[in-house]
Amino acid sequence: MILIIGAGGQVGQELTANLREKHGRDKVVASDIREIEGLDAPFEKLDAMDGSRLREIVDKYGVKEVYHLAALLSATAEKQIKFAWELNMQSLFHVLELAKEKVIDKIFWPSSIAVFGPTTPKQNTPQETVTEPTTVYGISKLAGERWCEYYAKKFGVDVRSIRYPGLIGYKTMPGGGTTDYAVDIYHQALENGSYECFLEEGTYLPMMYMEDAIRATIELMEAAPEKIKVRSSYNLSAISFSPKEVAESIQREIPDFTISYAPDFRQKIAESWPQSINDSKAREDWNWKENYNLDKMSSDMLLHLKAQKGLK
Ligand code: SER
Repeated sequence: MILIIGAGGQVGQELTANLREKHGRDKVVASDIREIEGLDAPFEKLDAMDGSRLREIVDKYGVKEVYHLAALLSATAEKQIKFAWELNMQSLFHVLELAKEKVIDKIFWPSSIAVFGPTTPKQNTPQETVTEPTTVYGISKLAGERWCEYYAKKFGVDVRSIRYPGLIGYKTMPGGGTTDYAVDIYHQALENGSYECFLEEGTYLPMMYMEDAIRATIELMEAAPEKIKVRSSYNLSAISFSPKEVAESIQREIPDFTISYAPDFRQKIAESWPQSINDSKAREDWNWKENYNLDKMSSDMLLHLKAQKGLK
């Protein structure tokens, strides 16, 4: 039995749908802090900081595998420092403890490119390098990575993790991230023909199409344990682009689309992160390979969003 914590989020909704298709709906319990429209049963309300409620759900369903996706993202965490730290850390501890006690067998927990900071090499950022994050979110993800590796080495916990880049999909909206512009821009392009970006035009960030990210997550979780040599979190990359480049890619399909720039506090966060990621370890250890480049992603995004919005 699989439990998804944070099943109502950007990744959670897609992962829940995907795992249910694969294993059957009744084999995947969705949970979130609030009821989520469109999420079928089995569903349980769960505050990820409530360890005893988590245990209750795990016992009730005989859960063996947990995808723990609940977190405050980079932009929101800057505004709720203490809460972000408590949520992102406590919830991870609860899940790690369940695995240490052998109640559950396997954990997926996402980390992020936010573990890197201004002192990290910006291009082709290696798996092992300087990690001096300057955001609350990044600090919590880096600490989480250290704890994952600690529990893996010390207690044999089978925890697996990916440093997600910015994730872009048409099925769900992100919330509170610095890379979220790259989702919103497609919606605005179709609805208004223009977009005001909160990052500057030349701000390169590592990104990935959601379909690739979900496939990577499932491939990592299905790989034989001995193949998983990194127990902190794997670098993972697909595409790097700037707001200007994604706008140009949209203009190839919607020639009249225009973009303007009004950078806010998120610009500084973006500037502290790498521009491109070296993910050779993921490629070597469990054969990771992306399917989508920028233009392929743009076409697919626009195709599906047009249908969703009833546009031709
Ligand atoms: N997409 C995330 C954010 O912007 C990074 O992990 O917060």
